[in-house]
Amino acid sequence: MARVLVGVTGGIAAYKACELVRLLVRAGHEVVPLLTPGAERFVAAETFRALARSRAGAEPFPHLERADLLVVAPCSANTLAKLAAGLADNLVTETALAHAGLTLVAPTMNPRMWAHPATQANARVLRERGVEFAGPEEGDTAEGERGVGRMAEPEELLRRCALLLEGRTRLSGRRVLVTAGGTREPLDAVRFVGNRSSGRMGVALAAEAARRGGRVTLLAANLQVPAPADVELVETPTAADLERETLAHAPAADLVLMAAAVADYRPAHARSDKRPKDGAAWTVELEPTTDVLRALAEQPADGRVTVGFAAETGPGGAARAREKLEQKALDLIVVNDVSRADVGFDSPENEVVLIGRDRERAVARAPKEQIAAAVLDEAVRLLEERRG
Ligand code: CTP
Repeated sequence: MARVLVGVTGGIAAYKACELVRLLVRAGHEVVPLLTPGAERFVAAETFRALARSRAGAEPFPHLERADLLVVAPCSANTLAKLAAGLADNLVTETALAHAGLTLVAPTMNPRMWAHPATQANARVLRERGVEFAGPEEGDTAEGERGVGRMAEPEELLRRCALLLEGRTRLSGRRVLVTAGGTREPLDAVRFVGNRSSGRMGVALAAEAARRGGRVTLLAANLQVPAPADVELVETPTAADLERETLAHAPAADLVLMAAAVADYRPAHARSDKRPKDGAAWTVELEPTTDVLRALAEQPADGRVTVGFAAETGPGGAARAREKLEQKALDLIVVNDVSRADVGFDSPENEVVLIGRDRERAVARAPKEQIAAAVLDEAVRLLEERRG
């Protein structure tokens, strides 16, 4: 079951969106209808709520919750232009801006409006951004003209939704290894050298991979957030634990997502007791830990896809991340700027750049759950390229 947002804009075809909502609900999806004021001139919001079996005001901001798919049907010429420009002046356009996942639009308009270079340019912009189109189709329009401008039929839209959503469960049967959190390196029995990683990003990745049907093992280093229920959890509090478990689990994995902040240095001599306070300085020698990704790169990869993360500060971060991609033999590196206080460490949101060997993609600021979906979209694509 997926969560599908159905955005309905003003047009006579709005009544066909009722049928789409009914079909999606019947297919077992959770459907959230969202209407523009223009749409409400054609069909009452109450009709959609009844078909979607949702109560008015049940969730205060249903359009801002994570969703698998946004369908805009019918999508008027006006809304198409707003989507291309990034305007957010009603529930549907706001939703489109907040939604980082799959989007399907079903344009519906007078054939001359569809053929206009302005509309064609808007459609091109959206396609380049990864938005999927269904129709418009050729036929008679409501105003009695003939040409390309009719909305695709609800059954066709359902078929397209199913295809898009299927693409998101392409991890079924795959083994996924995720590392999350920040390691703590003991100084003595109670003190440690650690870092600020909460584990949110890795946990979001593990949850998303499990939702897509992956068999997920989560190596957890001192998580500050609850682990997802449907994953195998292995506690790896120190860099040495994480190294050992990663190297043990990776050979069976199809995909490795190395989101943990692994200590680069650990105290060379940890005390087994608690060091008493004596007024003297305490000098600690730190020794380097093993770089787990580098160690992994020395194992035979056998088609496995490995994704690393790079915590960078300031300009030049992307270039350093590209070097890490090479040095650590990664297939993809997820770069985030940890010098910013509003995203990244400790924050529920992130803003990243995905750097692969042949392409790069910036993912705008979004909740970590949506960032996780974008990372997995890319990782799954690489996995399928390699393993079919
Ligand atoms: N990593 C690792 N083993 C370590 C340190 C880091 O496998 N001992 C992994 C992290 O999980 C992450 C990636 O390497 O996926 C990048 O980590 P980062 O700390 O950003 O980069 P470093 O390679 O450690 O380089 P530097 O700290 O100099 O930027």
